Amino acid sequence: MIRLVAGNWKMNGSLAANRVLLDGLGALPGVETAVCVPYPYLAQLQQRPEGLALGAQDVSEYVAGAYTGEVGGSMLADFGCRYVIVGHSERRALFGEDDLTVGRKARAALEAGLVPIVCVGETLDERDAGNALVVIDRQLGAVREVLGVAAMGGVVVAYEPVWAIGSGRSASVEQVAEVHVAIRAWLREQGVAAGGVRILYGGSVKPDNAAALFAVVDVDGGLIGGASLVAQDFMAICRAAAEAA
Ligand code: 13P
Repeated sequence: MIRLVAGNWKMNGSLAANRVLLDGLGALPGVETAVCVPYPYLAQLQQRPEGLALGAQDVSEYVAGAYTGEVGGSMLADFGCRYVIVGHSERRALFGEDDLTVGRKARAALEAGLVPIVCVGETLDERDAGNALVVIDRQLGAVREVLGVAAMGGVVVAYEPVWAIGSGRSASVEQVAEVHVAIRAWLREQGVAAGGVRILYGGSVKPDNAAALFAVVDVDGGLIGGASLVAQDFMAICRAAAEAA
């Protein structure tokens, strides 16, 4: 399975800054690369390096209609998006998205022909209480409840421990291995075609730890925040994923 490295720009960028950043990006053999950008910049990203896939950071659970402020999956597809992040921990924590909402957003994405990147992960308190896998089971379980088993095989899962996001402290390779193996096993137990589901790791992935993280069992790529805003860092991470393949 070819690895996927997706940049999550979060709420960063400007027309001018994006232009500079895009100048430094390019596709690499042996790895799929994508950038998930703020909605207004989807238009700017119509011109981007060949082979770089486009994604958004959220999608409405609704198809169309009287939903002021929402952006529908078909609109993202219109702009050539292939991916959309759903259930990022920042949306769960700051914007009140619950597990079933995340499931409905994943369903809306699939129905629009997009690939949802479903984010799961525990807080530090949940990890310290020994509940990391319980939390992830619950989060994935809600998505499976909405999607059903067959459609669940069409998502990308991103394991992003909340305490590792933007903290400069990535999870250890042992922690990542434990969770990724557990996610794959959980998918298999549910009857999902687990072998085809990419499981990304996200949380303080940097050029200096990327190779070690991508070498971990069941790590099929990465979801990159801060380092995706620096072209040479993002490309170094993509290279590490290509070389690990
Ligand atoms: P950082 O890479 O900045 O820790 O962010 C990870 C993330 O949230 C990607 O979605």
